[in-house]
Amino acid sequence: MLTNGGVKARKRQFDSQDLADDRAEQAVATLRSAARRSTMPAERGGLSPRIATYLETAKLPSPCLVVDVDMVGQHYAGLVRALPDAAVFYAVKANPAHEVVKRLAAAGSNFDTASLGEIDLCLGHGVAPERISYGNTIKKQSDIAAAYARGIRLFAFDSEEELTKLAQAAPGSKVFCRILVDCAGAEWPLSRKFGCEPDMAADLLARAHQLGLDAYGVSFHVGSQQTDLTQYDTAIAQAADLFKAVDAKGVRLRMVNVGGGFPSRYRTDVPPISSYGRAIRDALKRHFGANTPELIVEPGRYIVGDAGVIASEVVLVSHKGGADQRRWVYLDVGKFHGLAETMDEAIKYRVLTPHDGTETMPVVLAGPTCDSADILYEKTDYRLPKALKAGDRVLILSTGAYTTTYSSVAFNGMPPLASVCI
Ligand SMILES: Cc1ncc(COP(=O)(O)O)c(C=O)c1O
Repeated sequence: MLTNGGVKARKRQFDSQDLADDRAEQAVATLRSAARRSTMPAERGGLSPRIATYLETAKLPSPCLVVDVDMVGQHYAGLVRALPDAAVFYAVKANPAHEVVKRLAAAGSNFDTASLGEIDLCLGHGVAPERISYGNTIKKQSDIAAAYARGIRLFAFDSEEELTKLAQAAPGSKVFCRILVDCAGAEWPLSRKFGCEPDMAADLLARAHQLGLDAYGVSFHVGSQQTDLTQYDTAIAQAADLFKAVDAKGVRLRMVNVGGGFPSRYRTDVPPISSYGRAIRDALKRHFGANTPELIVEPGRYIVGDAGVIASEVVLVSHKGGADQRRWVYLDVGKFHGLAETMDEAIKYRVLTPHDGTETMPVVLAGPTCDSADILYEKTDYRLPKALKAGDRVLILSTGAYTTTYSSVAFNGMPPLASVCI
């Protein structure tokens, strides 16, 4: 719950940044009507009732991400129910807000980190080093040594050179090897750059053992926003084969890390989290039989995505003349303010406006900067109300994951995406 003191403190913070805008007052009524038009229940990615209520009176800079931390807790609990035997390592990169880390730490989550900065963030919230993994496969040796000095003993790798660094800078630690998997079906694939071929992984894990490391297991990531559940089965089958191959070299692996991929609700419906749990549990049974390995999951998007809403403002509505009848709608939030996952129009956010329910027309949706890459949707069919005009507030739903941290510091002199947790 947000205390009154908390509200005041945050308002003061915004006032002191001189960001609060008179137009926020005028926007209250329009936001209220937009919020009320979101009929989808919050648990399916509709507007969180807490955020809707908060926006009725909050004075915020624009754009601003509002995160409902209670919903973060609910999604964490939902995943634990779906996979009761898994150790959940929240992927901090999805949203490293202090309130999010604090809530998840209190709920019992572990943390998957990508850098020393994320490790220190978690340690700063009292998370014990045994609950933190350093899951990035690309690490400086000095950072590995610093993590080790802080007590971190669980590391990812996918190459021989990284393994050598780990053996030197993190002796005796548990290590897991990430394998390449097909990310087909994912809206935000994480293929090619991470992982190695399973044959190579088998050699590297045996080598890890020789180097005095604890060859703990295998990881993969089927791609973020993955809605094809069979991808988990295919990858778990690969992991089971790898277990056998490493066993034949005299080393016993114990853990499978299935990464993330669990979805937020964007423009199209997604399977419930219980289906992901079932798919993973069934696949483990099918491919490992009675020798069930320890299971790690690293959810990011699912935990925080639907819990966040960006309140934004229309800066300009125009058209270009000629044959293209579409209107261009420029928002004060764009690719450089956190909506980076609109790259190639991959993630398709839902947009609420104060005029929803009235006549619409096709639009190109773009950000405010002087960069022509700053277009959110040009090929995807987006339609917004004809009545939409400069000054209107719009809400961009399910934006709690992978937004604030993608926001540039001051591209075009514009401030980074503000964020408030309630
Ligand atoms: C190693 C690792 N684990 C977990 C995640 C989280 O994935 P998701 O947001 O799809 O749950 C990521 C995302 O980039 C990742 O790189």
